[in-house]
Amino acid sequence: MAASAPLLLLLLLPPLLRGCGAAPEPPEPPEPEPEPPALPESALLQPTVLLAILARNSAHTLPHVLGCIERLSYPKSRIALWAATDHNIDNTTAILREWLKNVQHLYHDVEWRPMEEPV
Ligand SMILES: *[C@@H]1O[C@H](CO)[C@@H](O)[C@H](O)[C@H]1NC(C)=O
Repeated sequence: MAASAPLLLLLLLPPLLRGCGAAPEPPEPPEPEPEPPALPESALLQPTVLLAILARNSAHTLPHVLGCIERLSYPKSRIALWAATDHNIDNTTAILREWLKNVQHLYHDVEWRPMEEPV
């Protein structure tokens, strides 16, 4: 299945990931997206988008999803990653941590929120 990414890249991130298959995402109410007032320099720069990765026990699908994220044809320098994971009984935390460590220098910003300690 070919990802429908090229056309969607002009939109914000959630539509981008839809072409990429089973990314576990919590349902979000649709929000109206008001057009920000155009500044002179914003005509040249693509907007910085925040991509949230919420993963739990996803070791089997993470490589696919992370590969999709890496292949997005959107400048990584304008993508901020926010990754959170908790209560894993598989290798999700290690996979996510290693991937972030390898790619973080490419991205605008990376926030890593693992929560390993059982409560
Ligand atoms: C868990 O993932 C890390 C990072 O990819 C890898 O180095 C390690 O071998 C994996 N461990 C298991 C038990 O699969």
